[in-house]
Amino acid sequence: MCGIVGYVGYRQACPVIIKGLHRLEYRGYDSAGVALIGRDGQIELYKCKGKVEDLEHFLEGKDTESTIGIGHTRWATHGAPNDANAHPHFSQSGRIALIHNGIIENFRVLKDALKSHGYTFRSSTDSEVLVNLIEYIQDTNECTLEEAVRMALRQVVGAYAIAIVKRGDPDRIIAARQSSPMAIGIGEGEYFLSSDAASIIDYTQKFVYLNDGEVAVIEKGKPLQIKTLEGEASQVNIQKLEMSISQLEKGGFPHFMLKEIHEQPDTLVDCIRGRVSPDSREIILSGVLDNKERFLKAGRIIFVACGTSWHASLIGEHLIENLCRIPVEVEYASEFRYRNPIIRPDDVVIAVSQSGETADTLAAVEIARREGAFVYGICNVIGSSIARATDSGTYIHVGPEIGVASTKAFTGQVTVMAMLALVVGKLRGTLAEEEYHQMADALLRLPDTIRKVLECAPAVEKLSGIFTYAHNFIYLGRGYNYPTALEGALKLKEISYIHAEGLPAAEMKHGPIALIDAEMPTVVIATLDHTYEKTVSNIEEIKARGGKIIAVISEGDTQLRKRADFCIEVPSTAECLMPVVSIIPLQLLAYYIAVNKGRNVDQPRNLAKSVTVE
Ligand code: M6R
Repeated sequence: MCGIVGYVGYRQACPVIIKGLHRLEYRGYDSAGVALIGRDGQIELYKCKGKVEDLEHFLEGKDTESTIGIGHTRWATHGAPNDANAHPHFSQSGRIALIHNGIIENFRVLKDALKSHGYTFRSSTDSEVLVNLIEYIQDTNECTLEEAVRMALRQVVGAYAIAIVKRGDPDRIIAARQSSPMAIGIGEGEYFLSSDAASIIDYTQKFVYLNDGEVAVIEKGKPLQIKTLEGEASQVNIQKLEMSISQLEKGGFPHFMLKEIHEQPDTLVDCIRGRVSPDSREIILSGVLDNKERFLKAGRIIFVACGTSWHASLIGEHLIENLCRIPVEVEYASEFRYRNPIIRPDDVVIAVSQSGETADTLAAVEIARREGAFVYGICNVIGSSIARATDSGTYIHVGPEIGVASTKAFTGQVTVMAMLALVVGKLRGTLAEEEYHQMADALLRLPDTIRKVLECAPAVEKLSGIFTYAHNFIYLGRGYNYPTALEGALKLKEISYIHAEGLPAAEMKHGPIALIDAEMPTVVIATLDHTYEKTVSNIEEIKARGGKIIAVISEGDTQLRKRADFCIEVPSTAECLMPVVSIIPLQLLAYYIAVNKGRNVDQPRNLAKSVTVE
């Protein structure tokens, strides 16, 4: 999705902005641009279709001397990805330049009204409508730019994070947000602005996260001023973000995705640290324990999530139903929000999101809270919108995930869900002490188990060569590993663009088995669990029809070694933690196939890392 970076202070703004935009590239985008206020007070605007690198070439030889600027990466919503639609956008007079993330839903009505007042438009974007609306309001009301921004935003329906600069005003940026992230970095005599605080962590660790409906006036040498759309002063709440720059770099790997796959043993250490005691094997999740009553009395748990986070939630369903005996529903956030769902006061809604910014999940959280449910967040990004909008929650603490394909977030989410189910199961007395301690042991061993699984990487790389040119794949699993099959298929399709379908293994015979022939590889997760024998039968059914089987099997399984065409062995762990283990070879398989096909693994076509529009 679109990204925003801004700077006002004593440094050269352009290099700060370009560096920040590079850091935001992971979000997915198709054009980039920057607006700078030159020494003569004029706004210089440079933008083009393509990558930030293309913008850098475009800037070569241009006068970019300026200590104030706003920059943008655009992920097209209204209008094709081209130079004209790239941000920033000037107002009609050229007095104001604006960048915008999000969607102005009522832009058509506003555009028609502005046209009737003589406005013309250079782009097809909703964002240009907004900048002209601000200019029109300022001109007709003869008010300050800040007042005009607040008045304009009161007329807007939709989502936005915006940053604005004005000709002749080289010390000031105005920013606002509604359902789209915006962090303001506080330096010594300088301010930074970004859609993702991590992108400006080189300069400061002190951040203010704007809330919905807030407008900030960011002025060099002056205290930060934040007001609501109605003009009431808001509190400026400065938070510290602990993060190292090395977490944002590839660390010797060719792609972020591969780095993130390989760092899972360490990210799981961070996820478990301080939560599972190595001595007593006691599990402490303060977000749950501080709200014991809500979990003890829960009549139902509803997960709301999208994509990979939705797959992790399906595993959460198994965990909670098995260990806590609470009925669970797993909802696509995008469906939940528009379905008039029945939400009861004793429901606990768990919102799962790596970015904490997914628009549909955030909307589902708002609905659940409005209906009186207790809302718990499982997020990765600290201080993200969902983390702040929920009543309580647990961070997965896996560090910044830059590759668009989610990997370490999935294993972190499942691990947090396992800890949550164990804590709640113990509270509710639905879990035997012995099982609790065995699972705590398995959790403590999990990072080492994953280290061991990763040893399969060279074999998976070799295997990938055989299947690079397959056009379709089926992924099968049962029980805890059915969601793993869905996740494995998603990984393959999003980065290699090969069609892949995940299914519960037993569903094959109800239709999809018709697809099986020698050209259709089937990846089966067939580790030793209570569904193993059934899965073996499903494999036989596919083999009988000439299908090729790639099986993820438990170490030492000689039966499937003989039956499957290709096997990847993985070590064992507690059955309910098996998805964390069995997803690793599937992440690697997708990665290597995509690399073989020459795909842009970290920024696959059409995709954005965090989907902040509906
Ligand atoms: O940040 P979130 O976890 O809320 O994101 C949800 C999905 O957009 C995300 O998981 C997406 O499906 C990934 N590209 C999967 O790899």
